Amino acid sequence: MPIIIAVAHQKGGVGKSTLAANLSAYFVKNGTNSAVVDADIQGSITNLVDTFGENDAFGSIRLIPRTAYDRFEELKDRPEDILFIDTPPYLSTDLDDIFLNSDYVLVPTKISPLDMLAIEATIELLDDVKEKKPELLVGIVINLVNKSEGFLEHIKEHLKGRGVIIQDTVITKRTEFQRSFLSGSIFESPDKKAQKEIAELAEDILMKLEGVEQETIGTPVESSVEETADAPTNPVEETKSKSIV
Ligand SMILES: Nc1ncnc2c1ncn2[C@@H]1O[C@H](COP(=O)(O)OP(=O)(O)O)[C@@H](O)[C@H]1O
Ligand SMILES: [Mg+2]
Repeated sequence: MPIIIAVAHQKGGVGKSTLAANLSAYFVKNGTNSAVVDADIQGSITNLVDTFGENDAFGSIRLIPRTAYDRFEELKDRPEDILFIDTPPYLSTDLDDIFLNSDYVLVPTKISPLDMLAIEATIELLDDVKEKKPELLVGIVINLVNKSEGFLEHIKEHLKGRGVIIQDTVITKRTEFQRSFLSGSIFESPDKKAQKEIAELAEDILMKLEGVEQETIGTPVESSVEETADAPTNPVEETKSKSIV
């Protein structure tokens, strides 16, 4: 049964599709069976793969289009080890179903007072789902930051006590995240720094799924991309064997 991670926020432009595609690509690059599930029949990853890729693949992006499955429950029977669901940027009745069938919900946000307010609606929706599924983990990741910004502590303070994880990895605004979609994922680009951020976020999520305390996390950022390139490992298999009893 695959680990299922939904990337959600009912606002467009926060990086849901970008992160879902690149996180999945990170695992594909490491030899893990991973794919992006488009929850939207006209979703942007489906458009991207239809336009530039072939056979539901584009670089390291593997797509499961909305037409490939009927109910979200069916995703649990898929052969992949880890799935990332890219969700639409509007309040859809599908969201409840998606969350109930997910292990982790990653909520990307930009950083500004207005974005802080916008995230409330998603957190409240997830609070309702957690009443039915208390084990569901919710992680907030700050995306599209400029180097000079230091908002991580601010957002941690703002969302303290809300039962959400604030991912320590912050994703920087980098042109290559946009440009790389001409050839596939960020792992088909030369931008090692962007690759490293995605690798660190991916490993961070896996560790949270393993139940490792946030304080103890110190992903060896410097080495993660190079190491995996030299000696492919299967991080998901390791997590599954440790966490699924
Ligand atoms: N970290 C980033 N750096 C630069 N551009 C980004 C980054 N994340 C997302 N983008 C760009 O921002 C826009 C919105 O991202 P997208 O993933 O489509 O958001 P969503 O799926 O939430 O609507 C796209 O043009 C995308 O290329
Ligand atoms: Mg999108």
